[in-house]
Amino acid sequence: MNLDEMIDNILEGTIPEHVAIIPDGNGRWAHNQGLERTEGHRQGTKRAEDLIEFIAKKIPIDFLTFYTFSTENWSRPDSEVKFLMTLLKNLLGNRGDKLLKNDVRLRIIGDIDGLPDRTENVVRKTVEKTSTNEGLRLILALNYGGRQEILTAVKELASQATGGDLSSEEITEKVFQSHLYTSEIPDPDLLIRTSGERRISNFMLWQLAYTEIWITEKFWPSFKPENFLEAISDFQQRERRFGRVEKGKYDQ
Ligand code: IPE
Ligand code: IPE
Ligand code: MG
Repeated sequence: MNLDEMIDNILEGTIPEHVAIIPDGNGRWAHNQGLERTEGHRQGTKRAEDLIEFIAKKIPIDFLTFYTFSTENWSRPDSEVKFLMTLLKNLLGNRGDKLLKNDVRLRIIGDIDGLPDRTENVVRKTVEKTSTNEGLRLILALNYGGRQEILTAVKELASQATGGDLSSEEITEKVFQSHLYTSEIPDPDLLIRTSGERRISNFMLWQLAYTEIWITEKFWPSFKPENFLEAISDFQQRERRFGRVEKGKYDQ
């Protein structure tokens, strides 16, 4: 099947509203090619750009999230962290226009204040610049940690409670969710992780409660739109039960 046929097939089924990606394996990809880890990040960034453009143009997904930098990634060597921050700054700075052209609207989840100033400024500017776009909603998880996100929400609720503005009965799932970085973003329907790792790595701990997970052995820098369509196609075969009994199976 060629790419267009794959797209046609996918469009006949249910398209997930929100797909989240953990683009892992940049370093190992580079190592296997005898290259520096940074080259893996450079190529990985290109694959992300290609995929964003492909989805924005061809697949009616509403929300696409990339785990871009975790709160734990600060513990990598300084030179790698610096490279990643500069890459991000250049990516959004130079090619923010590409997002505009494709009607992509950018949003960040994570602690933006904790980024280096120059990266933070470009990130904020690009969010602002794309804020009236109405196409694909692109979410970058930047300086993001799932536990930190939950703790931040708990702290906000606790201070409202001690101020007398909130009773414990009022803390429903909906209220809690509205204090997360992802307020007004639906939970991901599908999570894709590359490089064969079978873990969540502190990503969207609350939001992934009923997300379908698809893992590929491919390293991120060799992940192509075809692989994305494979993931969607696999998702379309699944039955999401949310704790219920399979429909029709045990009917009399
Ligand atoms: C993912 O690739 C990119 C980031 C975490 C920023 P890695 O850099 O984790 O690559 P591996 O897992 O070491 O191969
Ligand atoms: C997850 O990948 C974070 C991002 C892709 C940004 P890591 O490479 O940091 O995760 P671990 O360390 O293998 O769990
Ligand atoms: Mg990794």
